Amino acid sequence: MATSRSSFHFCVFFCYAILVNIPSTCFGDDHVALFVFGDSLFDPGNNNYINTTARANFWPYGETFFKYPTGRFSDGRLIPDFIAEYAKRPLIPPYKQPGNHHFINGVNFASAGAGVLVETNQGFVIDLKRQLNYFKHVERLLREQLGDKEASKLLSRAVYLFSIGANDYVNPFLINSTLFQSNSQQEYVEMVIGNLTAVIKEIYKEGGRKFGFFSLSPLGCLPLMRALNPGNSSGCVEELNDLVKLHNYAVSQVLQKLEKQLKGFIYSNFDSYTSSSERTDNPSRYGFKEGKSACCGWGPYRGINSCGGKRGMEEYLLCHNPSEYVFFDPSHPSEMFNQQLAKLMWSGTPNTTWPYNLKALFEV
Ligand SMILES: *[C@@H]1O[C@H](CO)[C@@H](O)[C@H](O)[C@H]1NC(C)=O
Ligand SMILES: *[C@@H]1O[C@H](CO)[C@@H](O)[C@H](O)[C@H]1NC(C)=O
Ligand SMILES: *[C@@H]1O[C@H](CO)[C@@H](O)[C@H](O)[C@H]1NC(C)=O
Ligand SMILES: *[C@@H]1O[C@H](CO)[C@@H](O)[C@H](O)[C@H]1NC(C)=O
Ligand SMILES: *[C@@H]1O[C@H](CO)[C@@H](O)[C@H](O)[C@H]1NC(C)=O
Repeated sequence: MATSRSSFHFCVFFCYAILVNIPSTCFGDDHVALFVFGDSLFDPGNNNYINTTARANFWPYGETFFKYPTGRFSDGRLIPDFIAEYAKRPLIPPYKQPGNHHFINGVNFASAGAGVLVETNQGFVIDLKRQLNYFKHVERLLREQLGDKEASKLLSRAVYLFSIGANDYVNPFLINSTLFQSNSQQEYVEMVIGNLTAVIKEIYKEGGRKFGFFSLSPLGCLPLMRALNPGNSSGCVEELNDLVKLHNYAVSQVLQKLEKQLKGFIYSNFDSYTSSSERTDNPSRYGFKEGKSACCGWGPYRGINSCGGKRGMEEYLLCHNPSEYVFFDPSHPSEMFNQQLAKLMWSGTPNTTWPYNLKALFEV
């Protein structure tokens, strides 16, 4: 039913586009753009264009699918790549990629190493506030290109996808963080949540309505963290996992509140914690051979971050088949893992993807 209706609008708009000479801005009534915010789990290469050491633009990153290093921290595609595919959209390009001026299908602002707090890896990443400012710039361009009415329609139908917060909690376990040390854990989580909530509200104010969240995984069980914690038989840094649980719970509470406060606000919250633990604890049940050690790295659990030999250390080991591993490098999953979780985010049942899955957000 949507097909004939949308092709009619496509035609009308197409003619309009020709008359006013707007290049490639045709879209139908059921067009849904995808705007992506976040960290390395979602960064398709923005960090290639900023001055940072947080990069993955060298082999063996990208070896599986793209066959060249795109800047993605994985052997292949990331979750937003699969979501775009399921939504029948093209790959969503990095905002920083030069020559990228058309945002009809959306754009990706995510930056490896970024956190919610500006203090997290400050100076080396595009933090969430900066990502928001880039989004506002895109919004203004869309209003200029399409006019207010069409742009507002596009923004309200678009899906806004987030993976953010992991670096805010991992960093204090890697470097001295005054902000972390001078606050209680509860206060620190509240700070992260407060700033995240402010960004969501800003996007809502600009017309965004549909929000998708990839919650935090058990970060204390990343190969990177296990390698720092060799004395513990469980291997995981439980203090970090406890923080993650506090954060995830607080996010779910805030989202329920926003749904009541903000008219038309609709969201999808994916339980990455459970889905990730299931795969690290029972890899074979999900088609993996190894759930704890990384495919690419060095030392215990291959948890030393030397994959590719370009981060100040040349030694590293690389597995033969990344799709047998949950983790590709010490802190990032393999394409196979990303694909499995993307499927759950897209069409999962409410016990993993709550209260709606992404497919429902795209269709509403
Ligand atoms: C990049 O960052 C490093 C470290 O902060 C700094 O020393 C260097 O001057 C920067 N380079 C450019 C081109 O900004
Ligand atoms: C953190 O601070 C402590 C004491 O202030 C110091 O001993 C330690 O070396 C610092 N660690 C890092 C990674 O800077
Ligand atoms: C946002 O984070 C900053 C630290 O970057 C903190 O001082 C501020 O209180 C936070 N804001 C909210 C609303 O929690
Ligand atoms: C070690 O593992 C145990 C059991 O999982 C946990 O209770 C403890 O907090 C862990 N210790 C550290 C330092 O993470
Ligand atoms: C969610 O429910 C489905 C069936 O409805 C089940 O197959 C799956 O194992 C459940 N997942 C979790 C995490 O409980």
